[in-house]
Amino acid sequence: MMKLKRLIFMSAVILIITAFYAYSREEIPTIDNIVFDHPQRSAAVFDHDDHNEKAMLEDDCSICHHVYENKKLIKDESSEDYLCSECHFLKPTPENAIPLRMAFHKQCKECHFESNKGPVLCGECHIKK
Ligand code: HEC
Ligand code: HEC
Ligand code: HEC
Ligand code: HEC
Repeated sequence: MMKLKRLIFMSAVILIITAFYAYSREEIPTIDNIVFDHPQRSAAVFDHDDHNEKAMLEDDCSICHHVYENKKLIKDESSEDYLCSECHFLKPTPENAIPLRMAFHKQCKECHFESNKGPVLCGECHIKK
């Protein structure tokens, strides 16, 4: 009888540990960093839809997916079907002075600083694996 109780107890412990391990290892969505030839950092964490919801940006796609014409921002127009890298290149170009890494950092960090919410430290976005 003692033995059976012990067995049940041990099974429960193992189950809890396994579940916790699986949960903590759950994939956090990240931004695809493949366009950076040899990424130095882990891809930045970013759960797109969840972020929109928490930051209340669901009606404001163009705040990130902007459209410019002759270097002038066209308000309320959205480029959501484009990757940032289709307009921002690894190096500045005559059409676009903001290289890709700076484009991401400026957009993400500026809003986090201004709203005093969201990560601003390297390791909070580029989480070590
Ligand atoms: C708010 C989030 C955020 C913070 C804070 C942040 N980054 Fe990034 N970083 C990004 C995003 C998004 C990209 C573009 C996608 C990617 O590479 O994951 C990027 C790209 C990069 C890249 C180019 C890609 C690569 O891995 O080589 C480097 C280098 C980089 N970051 C270094 C840093 C360093 C150093 C800091 C701290 C001074 C920092 N980042 C802080 C979000 C962040
Ligand atoms: C906080 C900034 C931000 C907001 C707000 C935002 N997005 Fe995005 N979205 C991103 C980033 C960053 C990516 C990844 C772009 C990349 O990898 O170059 C992305 C990717 C996408 C993509 C995939 C693009 C592709 O070609 O693969 C779609 C579609 C998209 N967003 C739609 C939307 C819609 C619709 C909204 C409004 C409801 C929205 N986004 C709001 C930042 C944002
Ligand atoms: C359809 C083309 C296009 C797309 C897609 C695009 N951008 Fe831009 N972006 C531009 C142009 C053009 C400028 C102005 C560049 C200049 O002044 O030389 C600009 C300016 C910027 C600036 C500087 C002005 C500001 O808003 O602070 C940042 C930061 C930026 N983009 C980040 C991003 C990020 C991040 C993405 C992807 C979510 C993105 N852009 C997608 C064309 C684009
Ligand atoms: C227009 C403002 C704005 C922009 C642009 C923005 N963020 Fe945020 N972000 C927020 C706010 C607000 C929060 C806090 C949400 C909350 O209350 O939990 C946040 C939170 C986060 C968090 C914490 C986890 C979460 O989802 O709440 C991460 C990670 C993050 N942002 C990454 C990014 C990255 C990467 C970018 C650039 C591609 C970005 N953010 C651009 C406003 C912004």
